[in-house]
Amino acid sequence: MTYIITTPLYYVNDKPHLGSVYTTLICDTIAKYKRLVGEKVIFITGVDEHGLKIQRTAQSNGVTPKEHCDDTSDIFLSNWTKWNITFDKFIRTSSKHHLSIVYEFYKKVKDSNDIYMGVQKGWYCVGCEEFKDNPDNSPSYQCPIHKKNLEWKNEENLFFKLSKYQNQIEELINNPNFIEPKERRNEIKNFVSKGLKDFSISRTNLDWGISVPDEKGHTFYVWFDALLGYISAITLNESDQSLNNSLRLGWPANLHLIGKDILRFHAVYWPAMLISAGIKPPEKVFGHGFLTREGLKMGKSIGNILDPSILLSQYGEDRVRWFLLKDINLGSDGDFQDKRFVDIVNNDLANTIGNLLNRTTSMSRKWFNNSVPTDINTSDKNFQELAQNTIDIYIRNFDKYEISQACNNILNFAIKINLYLNDEKPWVLIKDEHKKNNVKQIIYNVLESNRIIGLLLNPIVSELSNNILQQLGQIDKDNNNWKENLIWGKLKPGSKLPQPIPVIEKLEYE
Ligand code: MSP
Repeated sequence: MTYIITTPLYYVNDKPHLGSVYTTLICDTIAKYKRLVGEKVIFITGVDEHGLKIQRTAQSNGVTPKEHCDDTSDIFLSNWTKWNITFDKFIRTSSKHHLSIVYEFYKKVKDSNDIYMGVQKGWYCVGCEEFKDNPDNSPSYQCPIHKKNLEWKNEENLFFKLSKYQNQIEELINNPNFIEPKERRNEIKNFVSKGLKDFSISRTNLDWGISVPDEKGHTFYVWFDALLGYISAITLNESDQSLNNSLRLGWPANLHLIGKDILRFHAVYWPAMLISAGIKPPEKVFGHGFLTREGLKMGKSIGNILDPSILLSQYGEDRVRWFLLKDINLGSDGDFQDKRFVDIVNNDLANTIGNLLNRTTSMSRKWFNNSVPTDINTSDKNFQELAQNTIDIYIRNFDKYEISQACNNILNFAIKINLYLNDEKPWVLIKDEHKKNNVKQIIYNVLESNRIIGLLLNPIVSELSNNILQQLGQIDKDNNNWKENLIWGKLKPGSKLPQPIPVIEKLEYE
Protein backbone atom coordinates (compact mmCIF):
# COMPACT_ATOMS: atom_id res chain seq x y z
CA MET A 1 0.00 0.00 0.00
CA THR A 2 1.26 3.45 -0.85
CA TYR A 3 0.52 6.46 1.31
CA ILE A 4 0.09 9.60 -0.79
CA ILE A 5 0.16 13.01 0.85
CA THR A 6 0.01 16.33 -0.97
CA THR A 7 0.53 20.02 -0.28
CA PRO A 8 -1.45 22.42 -2.44
CA LEU A 9 0.37 23.27 -5.67
CA TYR A 10 1.44 26.80 -4.89
CA TYR A 11 0.79 29.73 -7.20
CA VAL A 12 4.03 31.11 -8.51
CA ASN A 13 3.00 34.75 -8.35
CA ASP A 14 5.56 35.16 -5.58
CA LYS A 15 8.10 33.24 -3.53
CA PRO A 16 6.86 31.05 -0.64
CA HIS A 17 5.48 32.87 2.40
CA LEU A 18 5.06 31.53 5.88
CA GLY A 19 1.62 30.10 5.01
CA SER A 20 3.05 27.88 2.28
CA VAL A 21 6.00 26.93 4.46
CA TYR A 22 3.54 26.00 7.22
CA THR A 23 1.55 23.57 5.04
CA THR A 24 4.71 22.08 3.59
CA LEU A 25 6.30 21.53 7.01
CA ILE A 26 3.21 19.73 8.27
CA CYS A 27 3.12 17.46 5.23
CA ASP A 28 6.83 16.83 5.62
CA THR A 29 6.34 15.76 9.24
CA ILE A 30 3.47 13.44 8.37
CA ALA A 31 5.44 11.97 5.45
CA LYS A 32 8.43 11.35 7.72
CA TYR A 33 6.25 9.75 10.37
CA LYS A 34 4.59 7.45 7.86
CA ARG A 35 7.98 6.37 6.53
CA LEU A 36 9.19 5.67 10.06
CA VAL A 37 6.24 3.38 10.75
CA GLY A 38 7.09 1.50 7.59
CA GLU A 39 4.73 2.85 4.93
CA LYS A 40 5.74 3.46 1.34
CA VAL A 41 5.17 7.19 0.95
CA ILE A 42 4.74 9.47 -2.03
CA PHE A 43 4.94 13.04 -0.78
CA ILE A 44 3.79 15.40 -3.52
CA THR A 45 4.30 19.11 -3.75
CA GLY A 46 4.70 21.48 -6.65
CA VAL A 47 3.59 24.66 -8.32
CA ASP A 48 0.45 25.90 -10.04
CA GLU A 49 1.69 27.95 -12.95
CA HIS A 50 -1.17 28.80 -15.29
CA GLY A 51 -3.99 31.32 -15.22
CA LEU A 52 -4.71 35.01 -15.27
CA LYS A 53 -2.98 35.80 -11.97
CA ILE A 54 0.35 34.39 -13.16
CA GLN A 55 -0.02 35.88 -16.64
CA ARG A 56 -0.53 39.32 -15.12
CA THR A 57 2.32 38.93 -12.64
CA ALA A 58 4.70 38.04 -15.47
CA GLN A 59 3.44 40.97 -17.53
CA SER A 60 4.02 43.42 -14.73
CA ASN A 61 7.54 42.03 -14.25
CA GLY A 62 8.21 42.50 -17.97
CA VAL A 63 8.94 38.83 -18.63
CA THR A 64 7.12 36.02 -20.40
CA PRO A 65 4.95 33.77 -18.22
CA LYS A 66 7.30 30.87 -18.98
CA GLU A 67 10.36 32.85 -17.82
CA HIS A 68 8.51 33.98 -14.74
CA CYS A 69 7.41 30.43 -13.87
CA ASP A 70 10.87 28.97 -14.45
CA ASP A 71 12.39 31.50 -12.07
CA THR A 72 9.75 31.25 -9.37
CA SER A 73 9.48 27.48 -9.39
CA ASP A 74 13.27 27.36 -8.94
CA ILE A 75 12.83 29.62 -5.91
CA PHE A 76 10.24 27.21 -4.49
CA LEU A 77 12.51 24.25 -5.08
CA SER A 78 15.52 25.90 -3.50
CA ASN A 79 13.41 26.95 -0.52
CA TRP A 80 12.22 23.42 0.05
CA THR A 81 15.81 22.26 -0.14
CA LYS A 82 16.83 24.80 2.49
CA TRP A 83 14.05 23.59 4.79
CA ASN A 84 15.11 19.97 4.16
CA ILE A 85 11.67 19.04 2.87
CA THR A 86 11.63 15.36 2.00
CA PHE A 87 9.20 15.54 -0.93
CA ASP A 88 9.23 12.72 -3.46
CA LYS A 89 7.65 14.56 -6.38
CA PHE A 90 7.67 18.21 -7.37
CA ILE A 91 5.14 18.81 -10.13
CA ARG A 92 5.07 21.85 -12.39
CA THR A 93 1.73 22.29 -14.11
CA SER A 94 3.41 23.84 -17.16
CA SER A 95 5.26 20.58 -17.84
CA LYS A 96 4.51 18.49 -20.95
CA HIS A 97 3.86 15.43 -18.86
CA HIS A 98 1.15 17.22 -16.89
CA LEU A 99 -0.46 18.47 -20.08
CA SER A 100 -0.89 14.97 -21.44
CA ILE A 101 -2.55 13.82 -18.21
CA VAL A 102 -4.97 16.77 -18.41
CA TYR A 103 -5.87 15.73 -21.95
CA GLU A 104 -6.43 12.10 -21.00
CA PHE A 105 -8.53 13.11 -18.04
CA TYR A 106 -10.59 15.64 -20.01
CA LYS A 107 -11.41 12.97 -22.57
CA LYS A 108 -12.81 10.73 -19.84
CA VAL A 109 -14.99 13.51 -18.43
CA LYS A 110 -16.17 14.39 -21.90
CA ASP A 111 -16.97 10.74 -22.62
CA SER A 112 -19.15 10.76 -19.51
CA ASN A 113 -21.14 13.50 -21.19
CA ASP A 114 -20.30 16.01 -18.49
CA ILE A 115 -19.01 18.90 -20.61
CA TYR A 116 -21.12 21.48 -22.42
CA MET A 117 -20.75 25.00 -23.81
CA GLY A 118 -22.50 27.80 -21.94
CA VAL A 119 -22.24 31.42 -20.97
CA GLN A 120 -20.44 32.39 -17.79
CA LYS A 121 -21.40 35.71 -16.28
CA GLY A 122 -20.20 36.78 -12.90
CA TRP A 123 -17.78 38.55 -10.61
CA TYR A 124 -14.29 37.11 -10.61
CA CYS A 125 -11.45 37.39 -8.09
CA VAL A 126 -8.16 37.00 -9.94
CA GLY A 127 -6.32 36.43 -6.63
CA CYS A 128 -8.52 33.41 -5.82
CA GLU A 129 -9.01 32.52 -9.50
CA GLU A 130 -12.64 32.00 -8.59
CA PHE A 131 -16.09 33.48 -9.27
CA LYS A 132 -17.45 35.11 -6.13
CA ASP A 133 -20.76 36.28 -4.75
CA ASN A 134 -21.11 40.03 -4.98
CA PRO A 135 -24.06 40.85 -2.72
CA ASP A 136 -24.52 44.45 -3.97
CA ASN A 137 -23.52 43.73 -7.56
CA SER A 138 -21.19 46.67 -7.14
CA PRO A 139 -17.92 47.10 -9.07
CA SER A 140 -16.23 48.35 -5.91
CA TYR A 141 -17.08 45.19 -3.93
CA GLN A 142 -13.83 43.57 -2.82
CA CYS A 143 -12.84 39.94 -2.38
CA PRO A 144 -12.88 39.34 1.38
CA ILE A 145 -9.62 37.38 1.14
CA HIS A 146 -7.58 39.51 -1.25
CA LYS A 147 -9.12 42.91 -0.54
CA LYS A 148 -9.15 43.67 -4.27
CA ASN A 149 -12.03 44.62 -6.56
CA LEU A 150 -13.79 41.78 -8.32
CA GLU A 151 -13.84 41.85 -12.13
CA TRP A 152 -16.98 41.35 -14.21
CA LYS A 153 -16.78 38.49 -16.74
CA ASN A 154 -19.23 37.56 -19.44
CA GLU A 155 -17.91 34.93 -21.82
CA GLU A 156 -18.62 31.67 -23.52
CA ASN A 157 -17.04 28.88 -21.48
CA LEU A 158 -17.14 25.12 -21.31
CA PHE A 159 -19.00 23.89 -18.26
CA PHE A 160 -18.64 20.81 -16.11
CA LYS A 161 -21.90 19.21 -14.92
CA LEU A 162 -21.23 19.42 -11.22
CA SER A 163 -24.98 19.40 -10.48
CA LYS A 164 -25.18 15.83 -11.76
CA TYR A 165 -23.04 14.72 -8.80
CA GLN A 166 -25.15 16.21 -6.02
CA ASN A 167 -26.01 12.83 -4.48
CA GLN A 168 -22.55 11.35 -4.75
CA ILE A 169 -20.95 14.41 -3.18
CA GLU A 170 -23.51 14.46 -0.37
CA GLU A 171 -22.76 10.84 0.31
CA LEU A 172 -19.03 11.45 0.24
CA ILE A 173 -19.10 14.34 2.68
CA ASN A 174 -21.42 12.44 4.99
CA ASN A 175 -18.47 10.25 5.72
CA PRO A 176 -16.99 11.94 8.81
CA ASN A 177 -13.48 10.96 7.78
CA PHE A 178 -13.54 12.71 4.44
CA ILE A 179 -13.32 16.35 5.53
CA GLU A 180 -11.53 17.57 8.63
CA PRO A 181 -11.76 19.44 10.90
CA LYS A 182 -15.42 19.00 11.79
CA GLU A 183 -16.33 22.71 11.61
CA ARG A 184 -15.05 22.90 8.05
CA ARG A 185 -17.00 19.82 7.15
CA ASN A 186 -20.14 21.54 8.35
CA GLU A 187 -19.38 24.58 6.19
CA ILE A 188 -19.04 22.35 3.14
CA LYS A 189 -22.18 20.41 4.04
CA ASN A 190 -24.04 23.66 4.22
CA PHE A 191 -22.68 24.80 0.85
CA VAL A 192 -23.58 21.49 -0.82
CA SER A 193 -27.06 21.43 0.69
CA LYS A 194 -27.91 24.62 -1.21
CA GLY A 195 -27.58 22.66 -4.45
CA LEU A 196 -24.46 22.30 -6.59
CA LYS A 197 -24.21 24.43 -9.70
CA ASP A 198 -22.25 23.52 -12.83
CA PHE A 199 -18.99 25.43 -13.10
CA SER A 200 -16.98 26.68 -16.02
CA ILE A 201 -13.76 24.86 -16.80
CA SER A 202 -12.44 26.91 -19.70
CA ARG A 203 -11.50 30.55 -20.29
CA THR A 204 -11.31 32.64 -23.42
CA ASN A 205 -8.95 35.64 -23.74
CA LEU A 206 -6.33 33.82 -21.69
CA ASP A 207 -3.22 32.56 -23.43
CA TRP A 208 -1.30 31.28 -20.44
CA GLY A 209 -2.93 27.91 -19.92
CA ILE A 210 -3.47 24.51 -21.50
CA SER A 211 -5.54 24.80 -24.66
CA VAL A 212 -8.71 22.76 -24.74
CA PRO A 213 -8.62 20.17 -27.54
CA ASP A 214 -11.02 20.99 -30.42
CA GLU A 215 -12.21 24.24 -28.80
CA LYS A 216 -10.35 27.06 -30.47
CA GLY A 217 -9.59 30.01 -28.23
CA HIS A 218 -10.31 28.12 -25.00
CA THR A 219 -7.75 27.31 -22.34
CA PHE A 220 -8.53 25.17 -19.31
CA TYR A 221 -9.58 26.97 -16.16
CA VAL A 222 -6.52 26.98 -13.91
CA TRP A 223 -8.16 24.94 -11.15
CA PHE A 224 -9.33 22.21 -13.54
CA ASP A 225 -5.75 21.94 -14.73
CA ALA A 226 -3.99 22.31 -11.37
CA LEU A 227 -5.94 19.73 -9.37
CA LEU A 228 -4.79 17.13 -11.86
CA GLY A 229 -1.23 17.87 -10.78
CA TYR A 230 -1.88 15.57 -7.83
CA ILE A 231 -2.27 12.72 -10.29
CA SER A 232 0.37 13.68 -12.86
CA ALA A 233 2.93 14.06 -10.07
CA ILE A 234 2.75 10.36 -9.33
CA THR A 235 4.32 9.36 -12.64
CA LEU A 236 6.99 12.08 -12.71
CA ASN A 237 10.27 10.38 -13.63
CA GLU A 238 8.47 7.10 -14.36
CA SER A 239 8.88 5.48 -17.75
CA ASP A 240 5.12 4.98 -18.19
CA GLN A 241 3.59 8.40 -17.66
CA SER A 242 0.00 7.55 -18.57
CA LEU A 243 -3.02 8.39 -16.44
CA ASN A 244 -3.62 4.69 -15.86
CA ASN A 245 -0.14 4.22 -14.53
CA SER A 246 -0.55 7.13 -12.11
CA LEU A 247 -3.72 5.51 -10.85
CA ARG A 248 -2.05 2.13 -10.59
CA LEU A 249 0.91 3.49 -8.62
CA GLY A 250 -1.06 4.48 -5.57
CA TRP A 251 -4.09 6.68 -6.26
CA PRO A 252 -6.26 7.71 -4.40
CA ALA A 253 -4.31 10.23 -2.36
CA ASN A 254 -4.63 9.53 1.35
CA LEU A 255 -4.44 13.16 2.39
CA HIS A 256 -4.73 16.52 0.68
CA LEU A 257 -3.55 19.01 3.27
CA ILE A 258 -4.68 22.50 2.29
CA GLY A 259 -5.69 25.85 3.74
CA LYS A 260 -9.32 26.42 4.64
CA ASP A 261 -9.83 28.90 1.78
CA ILE A 262 -9.48 26.24 -0.90
CA LEU A 263 -11.53 23.51 0.71
CA ARG A 264 -14.45 23.75 -1.71
CA PHE A 265 -12.22 23.03 -4.67
CA HIS A 266 -10.74 19.98 -2.99
CA ALA A 267 -13.76 18.57 -1.21
CA VAL A 268 -16.48 19.24 -3.79
CA TYR A 269 -15.27 20.12 -7.31
CA TRP A 270 -12.30 17.77 -7.38
CA PRO A 271 -14.10 14.62 -6.16
CA ALA A 272 -16.94 15.28 -8.63
CA MET A 273 -14.44 15.63 -11.48
CA LEU A 274 -12.82 12.38 -10.43
CA ILE A 275 -16.09 10.48 -10.12
CA SER A 276 -17.05 11.71 -13.58
CA ALA A 277 -13.78 10.28 -14.95
CA GLY A 278 -14.36 6.99 -13.13
CA ILE A 279 -11.56 7.66 -10.64
CA LYS A 280 -11.71 7.30 -6.87
CA PRO A 281 -11.86 10.54 -4.83
CA PRO A 282 -9.11 11.24 -2.29
CA GLU A 283 -9.45 9.62 1.09
CA LYS A 284 -9.25 12.78 3.18
CA VAL A 285 -9.12 16.53 2.75
CA PHE A 286 -7.85 18.45 5.75
CA GLY A 287 -8.36 22.23 5.76
CA HIS A 288 -5.88 23.82 8.13
CA GLY A 289 -6.24 27.30 9.60
CA PHE A 290 -4.60 30.56 8.64
CA LEU A 291 -1.52 32.08 10.18
CA THR A 292 -1.54 35.65 11.30
CA ARG A 293 1.46 37.78 12.22
CA GLU A 294 1.25 39.59 15.56
CA GLY A 295 -2.53 39.40 15.09
CA LEU A 296 -2.61 40.63 11.47
CA LYS A 297 -3.65 38.58 8.47
CA MET A 298 -0.80 37.48 6.27
CA GLY A 299 -0.65 36.51 2.62
CA LYS A 300 1.14 36.98 -0.66
CA SER A 301 -1.43 39.26 -2.23
CA ILE A 302 -1.94 41.33 0.91
CA GLY A 303 1.67 42.01 1.83
CA ASN A 304 2.54 41.71 5.51
CA ILE A 305 4.59 38.67 4.77
CA LEU A 306 6.86 37.19 7.36
CA ASP A 307 9.73 36.11 5.15
CA PRO A 308 10.31 32.46 6.00
CA SER A 309 13.91 32.60 4.71
CA ILE A 310 14.74 35.23 7.31
CA LEU A 311 13.07 33.16 9.99
CA LEU A 312 15.06 30.15 8.88
CA SER A 313 18.41 31.88 8.91
CA GLN A 314 17.68 33.63 12.19
CA TYR A 315 16.28 30.74 14.18
CA GLY A 316 17.05 27.53 12.31
CA GLU A 317 14.69 24.93 10.99
CA ASP A 318 13.94 22.97 14.15
CA ARG A 319 12.76 25.91 16.22
CA VAL A 320 10.38 27.12 13.54
CA ARG A 321 9.11 23.62 12.94
CA TRP A 322 8.53 23.01 16.65
CA PHE A 323 6.71 26.28 17.14
CA LEU A 324 4.40 25.88 14.15
CA LEU A 325 3.63 22.23 14.81
CA LYS A 326 3.29 22.36 18.55
CA ASP A 327 1.75 25.73 19.19
CA ILE A 328 -0.90 25.66 16.48
CA ASN A 329 -3.58 23.03 16.57
CA LEU A 330 -3.88 21.70 13.03
CA GLY A 331 -7.15 23.12 11.79
CA SER A 332 -7.18 26.22 13.98
CA ASP A 333 -5.83 29.63 13.07
CA GLY A 334 -2.50 30.52 14.61
CA ASP A 335 -0.59 33.68 15.35
CA PHE A 336 3.14 34.13 14.98
CA GLN A 337 4.36 36.38 17.78
CA ASP A 338 8.10 36.82 18.24
CA LYS A 339 8.01 36.85 22.04
CA ARG A 340 5.85 33.76 22.30
CA PHE A 341 8.02 32.02 19.74
CA VAL A 342 11.22 32.64 21.72
CA ASP A 343 9.57 31.61 25.00
CA ILE A 344 8.19 28.37 23.64
CA VAL A 345 11.31 27.15 21.88
CA ASN A 346 13.49 28.11 24.86
CA ASN A 347 11.25 26.43 27.42
CA ASP A 348 10.43 23.30 25.48
CA LEU A 349 13.51 22.58 23.46
CA ALA A 350 16.42 24.21 25.28
CA ASN A 351 15.26 23.83 28.91
CA THR A 352 12.94 20.88 29.19
CA ILE A 353 14.47 18.63 26.53
CA GLY A 354 18.02 19.87 25.84
CA ASN A 355 19.03 20.59 29.40
CA LEU A 356 17.72 17.30 30.72
CA LEU A 357 19.93 15.44 28.29
CA ASN A 358 22.95 17.63 28.85
CA ARG A 359 23.00 17.35 32.60
CA THR A 360 22.35 13.61 32.62
CA THR A 361 25.03 12.70 30.08
CA SER A 362 27.47 14.95 32.00
CA MET A 363 26.73 13.16 35.29
CA SER A 364 26.97 9.76 33.69
CA ARG A 365 30.31 10.55 32.07
CA LYS A 366 31.69 12.00 35.25
CA TRP A 367 30.67 9.14 37.55
CA PHE A 368 30.71 6.14 35.24
CA ASN A 369 33.80 6.31 33.11
CA ASN A 370 32.36 8.37 30.25
CA SER A 371 29.71 5.69 29.73
CA VAL A 372 26.17 4.57 30.40
CA PRO A 373 26.12 2.94 33.88
CA THR A 374 26.40 -0.85 34.15
CA ASP A 375 24.80 -3.37 36.56
CA ILE A 376 21.36 -1.88 36.29
CA ASN A 377 17.89 -3.15 35.53
CA THR A 378 17.15 -2.27 31.88
CA SER A 379 13.49 -3.06 32.32
CA ASP A 380 12.32 -0.98 35.27
CA LYS A 381 8.55 -1.65 35.20
CA ASN A 382 7.44 1.89 36.01
CA PHE A 383 9.58 3.47 33.35
CA GLN A 384 8.78 0.85 30.78
CA GLU A 385 5.10 1.57 31.32
CA LEU A 386 5.47 5.34 31.30
CA ALA A 387 7.48 5.26 28.07
CA GLN A 388 5.13 2.80 26.41
CA ASN A 389 2.07 4.88 27.32
CA THR A 390 3.73 7.94 25.85
CA ILE A 391 4.60 6.08 22.66
CA ASP A 392 1.10 4.63 22.30
CA ILE A 393 -0.68 7.93 22.69
CA TYR A 394 1.83 9.70 20.44
CA ILE A 395 1.20 7.11 17.71
CA ARG A 396 -2.56 7.43 18.14
CA ASN A 397 -2.31 11.20 17.85
CA PHE A 398 -0.08 11.11 14.80
CA ASP A 399 -2.43 8.66 13.11
CA LYS A 400 -5.24 11.18 13.66
CA TYR A 401 -3.00 14.05 12.43
CA GLU A 402 -3.10 15.55 15.93
CA ILE A 403 0.50 16.63 15.62
CA SER A 404 0.33 19.34 18.25
CA GLN A 405 -0.90 16.70 20.72
CA ALA A 406 1.92 14.37 19.72
CA CYS A 407 4.41 17.18 20.44
CA ASN A 408 2.81 17.65 23.84
CA ASN A 409 3.05 13.92 24.55
CA ILE A 410 6.82 14.13 24.12
CA LEU A 411 7.04 17.29 26.15
CA ASN A 412 4.95 15.93 29.02
CA PHE A 413 7.13 12.86 29.14
CA ALA A 414 10.24 15.07 29.33
CA ILE A 415 8.63 17.15 32.09
CA LYS A 416 7.93 13.99 34.13
CA ILE A 417 11.51 12.82 33.71
CA ASN A 418 12.81 16.21 34.81
CA LEU A 419 10.66 15.98 37.94
CA TYR A 420 11.93 12.47 38.62
CA LEU A 421 15.53 13.63 38.32
CA ASN A 422 14.94 16.62 40.57
CA ASP A 423 13.18 14.47 43.17
CA GLU A 424 15.80 11.73 43.19
CA LYS A 425 18.75 14.16 43.28
CA PRO A 426 21.50 11.78 42.13
CA TRP A 427 24.05 14.58 42.68
CA VAL A 428 23.32 14.26 46.42
CA LEU A 429 23.09 10.45 46.49
CA ILE A 430 26.43 10.00 44.74
CA LYS A 431 28.19 11.31 47.82
CA ASP A 432 27.09 8.21 49.69
CA GLU A 433 28.97 5.09 48.53
CA HIS A 434 26.01 2.84 49.55
CA LYS A 435 23.71 4.70 47.22
CA LYS A 436 25.84 4.24 44.10
CA ASN A 437 23.58 1.49 42.73
CA ASN A 438 20.58 3.76 43.11
CA VAL A 439 22.37 6.49 41.22
CA LYS A 440 23.24 4.11 38.42
CA GLN A 441 19.60 3.13 38.04
CA ILE A 442 18.36 6.72 38.11
CA ILE A 443 20.87 7.84 35.52
CA TYR A 444 20.08 4.89 33.29
CA ASN A 445 16.34 5.57 33.49
CA VAL A 446 16.83 9.19 32.55
CA LEU A 447 19.28 8.46 29.74
CA GLU A 448 16.97 5.84 28.31
CA SER A 449 14.04 8.26 28.51
CA ASN A 450 16.14 10.75 26.58
CA ARG A 451 16.72 8.14 23.90
CA ILE A 452 12.96 7.62 23.58
CA ILE A 453 12.46 11.40 23.45
CA GLY A 454 15.11 11.66 20.72
CA LEU A 455 13.38 9.01 18.65
CA LEU A 456 9.91 10.50 19.07
CA LEU A 457 11.19 13.89 17.96
CA ASN A 458 12.47 12.45 14.70
CA PRO A 459 9.59 13.33 12.32
CA ILE A 460 9.05 16.73 13.96
CA VAL A 461 12.52 18.19 14.54
CA SER A 462 14.91 15.82 12.81
CA GLU A 463 18.11 17.71 13.47
CA LEU A 464 17.49 17.96 17.21
CA SER A 465 16.48 14.31 17.26
CA ASN A 466 19.78 13.35 15.60
CA ASN A 467 21.76 15.51 18.00
CA ILE A 468 20.10 13.88 21.00
CA LEU A 469 20.70 10.37 19.75
CA GLN A 470 24.27 11.24 18.86
CA GLN A 471 24.88 12.45 22.41
CA LEU A 472 23.73 9.06 23.59
CA GLY A 473 25.97 7.30 21.11
CA GLN A 474 22.88 6.05 19.25
CA ILE A 475 22.53 6.66 15.58
CA ASP A 476 20.31 4.81 13.17
CA LYS A 477 21.32 6.69 10.05
CA ASP A 478 18.69 5.30 7.74
CA ASN A 479 15.95 5.26 10.36
CA ASN A 480 15.44 1.65 9.45
CA ASN A 481 14.59 0.43 12.91
CA TRP A 482 12.69 3.34 14.36
CA LYS A 483 9.74 1.32 15.62
CA GLU A 484 11.91 -1.50 17.02
CA ASN A 485 14.16 1.05 18.71
CA LEU A 486 11.23 2.49 20.61
CA ILE A 487 11.29 -0.44 22.98
CA TRP A 488 12.44 0.45 26.50
CA GLY A 489 15.83 -0.90 27.52
CA LYS A 490 17.70 -0.72 24.22
CA LEU A 491 20.34 1.67 25.56
CA LYS A 492 23.31 -0.58 26.23
CA PRO A 493 24.77 -0.43 29.74
CA GLY A 494 28.45 0.44 29.54
CA SER A 495 28.25 2.01 26.06
CA LYS A 496 30.40 5.10 25.58
CA LEU A 497 28.94 8.60 25.78
CA PRO A 498 30.54 11.32 23.68
CA GLN A 499 31.67 14.70 25.03
CA PRO A 500 28.44 16.61 25.85
CA ILE A 501 27.58 19.60 23.69
CA PRO A 502 24.31 21.52 23.95
CA VAL A 503 21.89 20.03 21.46
CA ILE A 504 20.06 23.34 21.03
CA GLU A 505 21.06 26.83 22.17
CA LYS A 506 18.78 29.17 24.11
CA LEU A 507 17.60 32.26 22.21
CA GLU A 508 17.75 35.78 23.59
CA TYR A 509 14.64 37.91 23.04
CA GLU A 510 15.55 41.39 21.82
N1 MSP B 1 -2.74 27.26 -6.51
C1 MSP B 1 -3.74 27.10 -5.54
C2 MSP B 1 -3.81 25.67 -5.05
C3 MSP B 1 -3.99 24.67 -6.13
S1 MSP B 1 -3.95 23.05 -5.51
C4 MSP B 1 -4.22 22.07 -6.84
C5 MSP B 1 -3.49 28.04 -4.37
N2 MSP B 1 -2.26 28.45 -4.19
S2 MSP B 1 -1.76 29.49 -3.10
O1 MSP B 1 -0.35 29.57 -3.28
O2 MSP B 1 -2.47 30.71 -3.21
O3 MSP B 1 -2.13 28.96 -1.72
C6 MSP B 1 -1.55 27.83 -1.25
C7 MSP B 1 -1.95 27.54 0.15
O4 MSP B 1 -1.46 28.53 1.04
C8 MSP B 1 -3.44 27.43 0.37
O5 MSP B 1 -3.69 26.21 1.05
C9 MSP B 1 -3.76 28.60 1.27
O6 MSP B 1 -4.78 28.27 2.13
C10 MSP B 1 -2.46 28.73 2.01
N3 MSP B 1 -2.31 30.03 2.67
C11 MSP B 1 -2.33 31.26 2.11
N4 MSP B 1 -2.19 32.19 3.10
C12 MSP B 1 -2.06 31.56 4.29
C13 MSP B 1 -1.83 31.95 5.60
N5 MSP B 1 -1.71 33.20 5.96
N6 MSP B 1 -1.71 30.97 6.54
C14 MSP B 1 -1.75 29.64 6.22
N7 MSP B 1 -1.95 29.25 5.00
C15 MSP B 1 -2.20 30.17 4.03
O7 MSP B 1 -4.42 28.35 -3.66
